[in-house]
Amino acid sequence: MRHGQQLRQTFTLLLRPVACRNLDPMAKFDDDPATIAALRDRLLAWYARHRRDLPWRQSTDPYAIWVSEIMLQQTRVAVVVERYRTFMDRFPTLVALALAGEQDVLALWSGLGYYRRARMLHKAAQFVAAHLGGNLPARAEELRALPGIGAYTAAAVASIAHGQRVAVVDGNVERVLCRIAGWDAGSRKGGGAALRRKIETLAGKLLDPAHPGDFNQAIMELGATLCTPRNPQCLVCPISANCKTRGEHKTPRRVPMMSRAVSYALSVRTSPKPGKTKGPSTREVLLEQRPAHFTVMPGMWELPTLTRAEVPANDLRMTLRHAIMQVSYYVRIRTVFEDDVEGMTVTGGERRWVPLREAANIALTGLTRKVLARAHLLPALPLDLIAPPASQDIA
Ligand code: ADE
Repeated sequence: MRHGQQLRQTFTLLLRPVACRNLDPMAKFDDDPATIAALRDRLLAWYARHRRDLPWRQSTDPYAIWVSEIMLQQTRVAVVVERYRTFMDRFPTLVALALAGEQDVLALWSGLGYYRRARMLHKAAQFVAAHLGGNLPARAEELRALPGIGAYTAAAVASIAHGQRVAVVDGNVERVLCRIAGWDAGSRKGGGAALRRKIETLAGKLLDPAHPGDFNQAIMELGATLCTPRNPQCLVCPISANCKTRGEHKTPRRVPMMSRAVSYALSVRTSPKPGKTKGPSTREVLLEQRPAHFTVMPGMWELPTLTRAEVPANDLRMTLRHAIMQVSYYVRIRTVFEDDVEGMTVTGGERRWVPLREAANIALTGLTRKVLARAHLLPALPLDLIAPPASQDIA
């Protein structure tokens, strides 16, 4: 585009009222073939130039793409990048994952939250290894039959790894499409099923049949980087010419976060190596395993929870915030000396003194890993030291 043309376009955009233009639930997207072709070209050219250099984008292995797509659901890209590499180093193939024990898989998922995703990924890998010769199905319809694979993941894997012409619709895509079509996402009458159908139809119409994988990733990337929920960057958006909104659109009101206080005990002792009274000692931390029947994070290891009566006013070691879905926990960590441990109520299941060297490799909850890293008892993963807006720790 020539400089003069670009300036004219910029001024035209600046002069338009930004928020909620033309929000009309009945609005129809201009779906003439030339408009759609132009939109595809602009979006794909933008993606080729600006896409983030993410580790899974260097692979065409359906297993690698599947793992990344599962991790990316509900978890920030920065967190995923870091954990993805470790996970793939440990389980480079579907069969390696299938052969692993669940506790090992959960340990490597620690900090990504939503552990049910890890359990389902593991179960699906075991099913594929046992019944499908270790080959992940190629078609979205077949992928959907596997545990933990829904419409979104099936479409992402089938389009990115195999070029199947099937559109992905995640939260980012929904937002981009609502904005370009001028649809009000604020009123979701009847649970939003009608709007969802319109979005899926539009996604299918826009999908580039020649490059479905790149197109799907481009539209998700646009939603993640420019067409963000707040402060979208319309002036540099490659498809602003196709957009009826050009700014923020109406969305359902956000549910305010609840706040809750919890306390955990941090008990560390130094013991001689098993069977020895002399020589180098081992530092151990007291952990509890959440019982298998818990709906949230069953089987995972955490610091013992302290009840109100057990919490002494002193011995406060640290406080931190930890968000789990819609709840923001105000967490107090108190030092409990070894002699006082016996008196603490066991809220979880098995309680065990775990050598710190082992603790790094077991299925810790994200909060426990974060606390141990902040107390310099475990090596910190870079993102453990930054308080995330909403770190997740859901079953
Ligand atoms: N979000 C989830 N998966 C993605 C992908 N493959 N590309 C861009 N954003 C994504």
